[in-house]
Amino acid sequence: MGVRVAVFASGSGSNAEVLIKHFKSHDGIEVSLVVTNRYDAGVIARAGRAGIKVLKTSRKDLECGLTEKQLRAENIELIVLAGFLLHIPRSIIQSFKDRIINIHPALLPKFGGKGMYGSHVHEAVLAAGDAESGITIHLVNEEYDKGRILVQYRCPVEESDTINTLAKRIQTLEHAHFASTIEDYILNEL
Ligand code: GRF
Repeated sequence: MGVRVAVFASGSGSNAEVLIKHFKSHDGIEVSLVVTNRYDAGVIARAGRAGIKVLKTSRKDLECGLTEKQLRAENIELIVLAGFLLHIPRSIIQSFKDRIINIHPALLPKFGGKGMYGSHVHEAVLAAGDAESGITIHLVNEEYDKGRILVQYRCPVEESDTINTLAKRIQTLEHAHFASTIEDYILNEL
């Protein structure tokens, strides 16, 4: 049995799907669980199509330790946050020290922190008039977006960009680099 990865997602799950597909043919790593806090999340259908077990969580389940117990029961060794909108409690961050990876759709430390998720991030980048944006893949620690940065990839922000055109360019970067960054981390640092 390879390294078992749980992907946490609250939304569409396009990154989760890319990770599931990438590791399906990998003999040392597998996405064995998808965790979501939303009954209507697109990630549920994506996981179902791929035959991946889905675990429902909630603020309560995270805080009271139930979700952590379920992760242990599934022998999860690495947590990947791919658009998960609930805060991971300190207890999980501590028991999965350096084993929680997050992807952020901007170049941290800029455009991070409270409220900076989804289109709010791209809106802030456009409003700031930055010439470039990108993605940040980092470890999650108690200070959340301030964990050790593993990699960043950059892309230009065009004059003509809208939130949607920038979001699409960022998503292309995410889908191109998230899986290999996780694979490198597992092979070299776990
Ligand atoms: C991505 O933009 C990711 O950077 C952010 O949440 C979004 C998830 O998108 N953390 P999807 O649900 O994987 O399509």
